[in-house]
Amino acid sequence: MTDRINDLLTRIESFAPATAAQVEEFRIALLGKKGEIAALMDEFKGVAPELKRELGQKLNRLKSAAVSRIEELKSTVGAREDAGSARIDDMTRPGSDGHIGSRHPISLVKNRIVEIFSRLGYTVADGPEIEDDWHVFSALNFPPEHPARDMQDTFFIEKNPDVVLRTHTSSIQVRTMERQKPPIRVICPGRVFRNEAISYRAHCIFHQIEGLYIDRNVSFADMKQSILYFAKELFGEKTEIRMRPSYFPFTEPSAEVDVSCSICGGKGCGVCKGTGWLEIMGCGMVDPNVLEANGIDPNEYSGFAFGMGIERIAMLKYGVGDLRLYFENDVRFLNQFDSAL
Ligand code: DAH
Repeated sequence: MTDRINDLLTRIESFAPATAAQVEEFRIALLGKKGEIAALMDEFKGVAPELKRELGQKLNRLKSAAVSRIEELKSTVGAREDAGSARIDDMTRPGSDGHIGSRHPISLVKNRIVEIFSRLGYTVADGPEIEDDWHVFSALNFPPEHPARDMQDTFFIEKNPDVVLRTHTSSIQVRTMERQKPPIRVICPGRVFRNEAISYRAHCIFHQIEGLYIDRNVSFADMKQSILYFAKELFGEKTEIRMRPSYFPFTEPSAEVDVSCSICGGKGCGVCKGTGWLEIMGCGMVDPNVLEANGIDPNEYSGFAFGMGIERIAMLKYGVGDLRLYFENDVRFLNQFDSAL
């Protein structure tokens, strides 16, 4: 009996099957109900008591050697067969399509805006998201008690000296004026933060794009023409703009810009709430105090600035009614947008 056990052990060791079917065959021959190990077990019952201990141990060792060898062969031979079948597949069959992702609508709109302004000679400028009071408020002519500094709007990281998350991209105007002497012509996209409750029309994180143009003899008419050009490029040739007087601490005079509703063409519809106009941005002539605070002589230079919310423009362009969709990153939403640009 010992000889047969040893013989089986060598066979198990040296068994080299080519297919999974051969492994299975081998398993049945060894471990099956009528297999060789079962036969040995049967025989073992009639073995003399003084030999039982030694033979019993040998039999157990044989069984576990068989089980683990077959497990090992199953995975290696199986994997080899899988790889092999892929190799002999029809070589002329077209490959499966690589999935091309889509760009986020906010990136699409941002890229488009940057592209339009770069044709007018604007370059992209950047600045930090974590800012100080000077760059977000003071250098932009915000009076010390201005409500925008209030805790309700601003995320404060530290108080005294103030470290804040920027509430608007206008801080990049200040960063640019520190770095550069006029003529300045920059477009500044970026993320901004406000302490607002999240709903379909407000979020605590959103994106703005800021424009700043400073040179000698820059006039309100230059601003109006640049914005009109931009609006026509973005919303179509028939688009008209109108400006309504407004107030921002960093511009004087200031205006709010509306475009004729691209959905109804100005006749009045649900999107423009029957007015025929959609608000898209704030703008104005850079306040002389801002120029002065940033080391630019207001007697020599003038300029204009404008700022808009990228989500707002994307909502108008794509007819998306709920701001939160831009932040949830649900692929069913994102898949609907282009991969281009
Ligand atoms: N910073 C303003 C805001 O957050 C937007 C803005 C308005 C920017 C007028 C400008 C501007 O540059 O001239 O609402």
